[in-house]
Amino acid sequence: MAKASETNNQSQPLVGEPYFCKECKRNHTKGKIYKEHLNFAKIESKNDDVIDDDVIDDDIIDDDIEISDLESKDDNTSEEEVALDDELNEIIEVDEKVDEDDFDEGLKNYSDDAIACVDAVKKLPGVGEATLKKLIKAGFGSLESIAYTPPSIIQKESGLGDKTIAKLIKSSMDKLDIGFKSAEDVWEHRKNIARITTSSQELDNLFHGGIETGCVIEFFGEFRTGKTQLAHQLCVNVQLPKEDGGLSGNALYIDTEGTFRPERIIQMAEGHDLDHKKVLKNIVFGRAYNSDHQIMLIKEAGNLIKEKNIKLIIVDSLIGHFRSEYVGRGTLANRQQTINTHLHDLLRLTDIFPDLCVVVTNQVQSKPDVFYGNPTVAAGGNIVAHGSTIRVYLRKGKGEQRVAKMIDAPHLPEGEAVFSITENGITD
Ligand code: GTP
Ligand code: MG
Repeated sequence: MAKASETNNQSQPLVGEPYFCKECKRNHTKGKIYKEHLNFAKIESKNDDVIDDDVIDDDIIDDDIEISDLESKDDNTSEEEVALDDELNEIIEVDEKVDEDDFDEGLKNYSDDAIACVDAVKKLPGVGEATLKKLIKAGFGSLESIAYTPPSIIQKESGLGDKTIAKLIKSSMDKLDIGFKSAEDVWEHRKNIARITTSSQELDNLFHGGIETGCVIEFFGEFRTGKTQLAHQLCVNVQLPKEDGGLSGNALYIDTEGTFRPERIIQMAEGHDLDHKKVLKNIVFGRAYNSDHQIMLIKEAGNLIKEKNIKLIIVDSLIGHFRSEYVGRGTLANRQQTINTHLHDLLRLTDIFPDLCVVVTNQVQSKPDVFYGNPTVAAGGNIVAHGSTIRVYLRKGKGEQRVAKMIDAPHLPEGEAVFSITENGITD
C-alpha cells in the first residue's frame, strides 16, 4: 500500500470519493471511518493512506475527522507507539468502569428525598439509563434542576444533544406545572417562608424575623465589620430546631479567604448549648483556591443539597478571587460576565431548592471622588447589586458593636440594627 507521503498521486481517490478496499473486498468512501474495522483503521491510518470501514457511531469517532488528520500522524508511528496507544485505551476503559462503579456506589449514599428526585427524572419520557447517568453526573438529579437551568448550561455540563435537552426541559416544566399562578398563591407561599435567626433580635427585626430562605443575601462592609462572624453564626443557627429559629438543616461553607475557624463554631455552638461535635459535623466545608475552583464548588453543591440536607450556603467572600485574578480595565467585561454567571448559579439553586438560603459576603471598594457621606461601595458593581436579592451594609460601631443597614430588599424598608460580636457569637 502507498505511504501517506505519496497520497498526492493522481490515481489515489480524494476524501469523499468511492474506492475499492482491498482488505474488505468492497467499496468504501475515502475519509470515512467504520466501526467494524476500528483497529484496522487506526493502525492503517498511521502507516498507510487507506482508511475506512462502515459508518461509525457518532459517539465513538467525531464526524469531522478527516483522512488528512489521520495521515498527518503517518508513517513515523512506531510499533511501540501503537502498543502505547492500546495500553492507554485499556487504561481509559478501566477508568470508565471505575467511574461507573463510583456512580452506582454514590447513589447508595443518597437520602430518600434525593432518590425520589432521581426517580422523577427517570420517569421523564425518553430518559434511559445512559441519559440518566449523564444528567446525574452533571448535577441534574431533579426535575427542578432541569426545568430551571438554561439549555446551553445543561448541554455544556452533560454533553446531551439539543433536542433531547429541549424535550427534557419541556416535560420537567409540565410535570412541575410551571407557569402563571395567582398572586394569592404567591402570598400563600411567602407567608410560610422559613427564616434563620441571626441570634440578635434587632438584626432579626431588620429582616422581619430572620434571614429568609429562597433568596441570595449579601452582607458587605469593610474589614472586621463582622461578615465572617455572621456567616459562622448562621452555620450554627441553621441547625437549630424551627421553634428556636433554625431550619433543622445543615450548612455548606465555601471559604475563599481561608478565614473559616472551627474554634469559633465551637464557641458559638456552646453559646446555644449545642453539642459542638454534631454542629461541626453538619457543616460541609469547601476551601476555594481560585475563582474557577469557587465556581466549580458551587456547581457541585447542587448535588449535595438534598443528600446532606443543606439549608444554608455561605460564600465568604464572593468576589475576592475575581478581584485579584482579573486585573486591569481590559479584563473588566470578562470578569463581570463571569461573576454574573456565578451569581446566577447561586440564584438558580434557590429556585431549585426554595427552602435554601444563600448568604454571600462582599468587600467594599473606596470611591475617591466622594467628599461627603460614605466613601465606600460594595465591590463587584451593578452585577452583584442586581444579582443579590437582599443587600445589607455592615459598619463598625463602638467596641464590639456593629451596625447593619438594609440597603436593598424587594419587601423590606431601609433601616438600621445594632448588634454585637462577643465570645459566644452574635448577640444584641
Ligand atoms: P474581612 O474578612 O477582613 O473583610 O472582615 P470581616 O467583616 O469578615 O470581619 P470578621 O467577621 O472576621 O470580624 C472580625 C472581628 O470580629 C474581630 O475584629 C473582632 O472584633 C470580632 N471577633 C472575632 N472573634 C471574636 C471573639 O472570639 N470574641 C469577640 N469578642 N470578638 C471577636
Ligand atoms: Mg471575613
